[in-house]
Amino acid sequence: MSEWTKSSWQNFTALQQPKWPDQKAYQESVDTISKLPPLVFAGEIRELKKQLAKAVEGKAFLLQGGDCAEDFDNCTAPGIRETLKVILQMAVVLSYAGGKPVVKVGRMAGQYAKPRSSDTEVVDGKEISSYRGDMVNSLEPTPEARIPDPQRMLKGYYLAAATMNITRAFTRGGYAALNRVQAWNKEFVKASPMGRSYERLARNIDQALHFMEVIGLDTDTPQLNQASFFTSHEALLLGYEEALTRQDSITGKWYDCSGHMLWIGDRTRQLEGAHVEFLRGVLNPIGMKVGPKHDIKVVKQLIEKLNPENEAGRLTLITRFGAKDVEKYLPNLIREVKKEGYKVVWSCDPMHGNTYTAETGHKTRNFNDILQELQCFFEIHWAEGSIPGGVHFELTGENVTECTGGGRNILDQHLQRNYLTNCDPRLNAEQSLELAFQIAEMIRS
Ligand code: PEP
Ligand code: CO
Repeated sequence: MSEWTKSSWQNFTALQQPKWPDQKAYQESVDTISKLPPLVFAGEIRELKKQLAKAVEGKAFLLQGGDCAEDFDNCTAPGIRETLKVILQMAVVLSYAGGKPVVKVGRMAGQYAKPRSSDTEVVDGKEISSYRGDMVNSLEPTPEARIPDPQRMLKGYYLAAATMNITRAFTRGGYAALNRVQAWNKEFVKASPMGRSYERLARNIDQALHFMEVIGLDTDTPQLNQASFFTSHEALLLGYEEALTRQDSITGKWYDCSGHMLWIGDRTRQLEGAHVEFLRGVLNPIGMKVGPKHDIKVVKQLIEKLNPENEAGRLTLITRFGAKDVEKYLPNLIREVKKEGYKVVWSCDPMHGNTYTAETGHKTRNFNDILQELQCFFEIHWAEGSIPGGVHFELTGENVTECTGGGRNILDQHLQRNYLTNCDPRLNAEQSLELAFQIAEMIRS
C-alpha cells in the first residue's frame, strides 16, 4: 500500500463528488477552511474511541442519531436543542433499561453533504441536478440553485462550529443534568402514552438522586450534571475533510477534526476508492454502512484496510438491510466477522433499508418496519453469540410527519401535514422515544 497523506485520496477515484463549476473558487474555499481552527480536538476523539471500545464488549451502547441532511436554516438554538433533547431522552431510557452507559453521537454539526442515487431529478416535468446537501447546493428546485457553490462549504464550516458551540454549552452547562430529565419531556409528547412512561422513569431517577442526597452522597459531580456528547457525519466531501485534518501536537498522529466520528456511506466504500483511502489514515472512530448489495469478501478486505491493528472502538459496522432482508444477510456477515476475530461495534441503522414512496409521492418509512429490523438485529446477534452494540437513527426533535405509524398511527395521507425533511424521512420526537422504550424492552438487563 502506498504511503498515506491527508491528500493521498486525490490519487483515487472519488464517487459522489459535486462538479464544482469554478475550480479556483473551490480551491480558495478549502484553503480558507484549512487555516481555520479544528471543530473538535484529538483528545475528545480518543475519548469517544475508548467509549466505543466498551460497546464492542457490550459494556456500553452506542446511540447515534440526527437529521438525514442538516438544514442551514435549522441551525438555531431551538432546532439544535430539540434534537439534542430527544437524543438525551432516548439515552436515559436506554441506559436505565440496559444498565450500561449510552454513548451519544449526533448526526450533527457537519451532516451537510449527501450521496444521491441519481445525478438528476425531474421536477414539474423539468430535469434538474439533484440536491446534494446544503454544503453543496440549495434544495430549491431550480437549475441555478442546484449549481454547486463552494461558498456553501465555508458556510457549512461556520454553522458546524456554531452547532458544536451551543451543543457543548447545553451538555456541559447544566442543561443535560440528570435532575432535569423531566424537564426534557416535550409538551406534545407528554400527552402521549410514551410521554407518560417517560415521566414515570424520570420520577424514578429523581427519587434515586434525592436518595443519594439524603444519605449524603455528593450529587454535584460531572457524572450527574454533564453529558458527554459527540458529533458525526458522513465523510463525503473529501476536500472539506482534508481541510480539517490536522496533526495532533501530542501524538503526531492525524485526526479529521471536522467531527468526532465519521462514517463511510454504502455508496462510497469501494476498496480502491478515495473515501476508503482517506479514512484509513485518520485515527477517528469510523463507521461503515453495510447494505444488501455488499460482497462479504470485500467487506472483510475493507475491515482489514480500515482497521489493520484490529483496535476495538476504531470501526463500527452499521448494517442497514431492511426488515425484509435482515435475516438473509446479517447472520452470515456476523459469522464471517466472528470467524476472523474482528473487533467491531455492531450497530443497526433500521432506516435506510426501509424507505418506500407513499401513494402521496412522499418518501417515507413505516414505524413497524423500523421496529422489526431492530428486533431481528438483536435476536440474530444473540442467536449468533455476538453483541448488538448500538443503533443509528434519522430523527428530529420537531413534530414532523415523515415516517408512518407509531403511537399516533400516522398514515400516508397525513404525511403532507408537516413533512419538512431536506432528504430522507425522520422519526419525530414521539416516535423516537417510543422506539427507545421498545429497544429498552429488548435489552432489559
Ligand atoms: C445516510 O445515512 O443518510 C445514508 C445515505 O446512508 P447509506 O449510505 O447507508 O445509504
Ligand atoms: Co438518509
